[in-house]
Amino acid sequence: MNQILSLLRPLRLVPIVTAESATEAHALAGALVAGGLPVAEITFRTPAAADAVAAVASRGDTLVGAGTIVRADQVDAAVDAGARFIVSPGTSRAVVERCHERGVPVLPGAVTATEVQTALELGVTTVKFFPAEASGGAAALRALTAPFGEVTFVPTGGISPANLRDYLDIPAVAAVGGSWMLPATAVRTGDWNEVTRLTAEAVTLARRTPASALR
Ligand code: 3PG
Repeated sequence: MNQILSLLRPLRLVPIVTAESATEAHALAGALVAGGLPVAEITFRTPAAADAVAAVASRGDTLVGAGTIVRADQVDAAVDAGARFIVSPGTSRAVVERCHERGVPVLPGAVTATEVQTALELGVTTVKFFPAEASGGAAALRALTAPFGEVTFVPTGGISPANLRDYLDIPAVAAVGGSWMLPATAVRTGDWNEVTRLTAEAVTLARRTPASALR
């Protein structure tokens, strides 16, 4: 089993956190942990991203990764801050190679057969299927898994409790990413109880996926 699978597969869910400050990220991670999800992908979409990764890493109770990584220097910033896995919206040779150099697992985005083949050529066998719903959803992903028996997918983008099971029931899906458990209003108002409630609901739904469906 490759490195990223051993990290993410047991959790089955990857909450995607876009934080405006390190303090906010720390609190959000606490709300996720309280809901049963000790993992957070911190996106590099705000100036606070690296500090947010460091703040979550310092908690000691959360597997912290960095997302929206599109350049090699961001890999360095994320890893230096404590990120233990890297997620990219697309498949970039520069990002993947820097991750290999830094010894950190990487999940590049791939949504077509050509992109999956590019990832394979770069030595990656687990990819982010992104944007999942806009790219044809679970049906499209299921079709894409057929020719790539050795590839594992983490679909992300437009996933919610309404369609979570459609993805988790695909044997090649290790985990599902998403931000639905961190709605913007709850984050803005500091309603961490709501984040915890939605997280616990997602964890319960994810657990209902039969283990026999995993590979
Ligand atoms: C991502 O960064 O992968 C997406 O923004 C997550 O998609 P979602 O917000 O639709 O869950």
